[in-house]
Amino acid sequence: MRGFTVWFTGLPSSGKSTLARLIEKRLTDNGFHTEVLDGDEVRLRLSKGLGYSKEDRDENIRRISYVASIITRCGAIAITCAISPYRNIREEARKEIGRFVEVYVKCPVEECIKRDIKGLYKKALSGEIPNFTGISDPYEEPLKADIVVETNNETIEESSNKILSYLTKFGYLAE
Ligand code: ADX
Repeated sequence: MRGFTVWFTGLPSSGKSTLARLIEKRLTDNGFHTEVLDGDEVRLRLSKGLGYSKEDRDENIRRISYVASIITRCGAIAITCAISPYRNIREEARKEIGRFVEVYVKCPVEECIKRDIKGLYKKALSGEIPNFTGISDPYEEPLKADIVVETNNETIEESSNKILSYLTKFGYLAE
């Protein structure tokens, strides 16, 4: 099989990691070799020490892109889930990786604030955390994502079916 990367992007608490883990499970259950590069884990290891300025976020994404490109070249499936808020750097990743499927995990910021899975929106809104994506730092929506899932209108099964149908339809899962 030829490798490829599924690149999730979206606001904090939009559902990227949950969806990535479900896709990972569904693919591995079907015998595909899959690796998830989760933003939170990456920041503990590969990107340890980086912060949330534009420069640091871009550097974080470049590192993730580099690793995803290696996984892709090895014929496996890389699944990345970092906010990746800047359009340009996502386009750089697309160029570097080649076989690249961008999934925009779309969810209104009001709904993300309600979910606030890690309690960080609360801190951002009170000013305790500066430069928080969606509150006090930009998120540049993809203009031409390959797939858009709307996690406030779809069940997680519907969103994951959408992604797997796309991968099948466009031959990514062909042996
Ligand atoms: S990215 O912008 O560089 O792509 P990444 O996905 O790695 O971000 O990390 C985002 C995670 O870091 C969030 O889910 C949250 O847990 C944490 N975080 C801490 N500070 C911030 C911040 N200022 N903005 C966004 N996320 C933050």
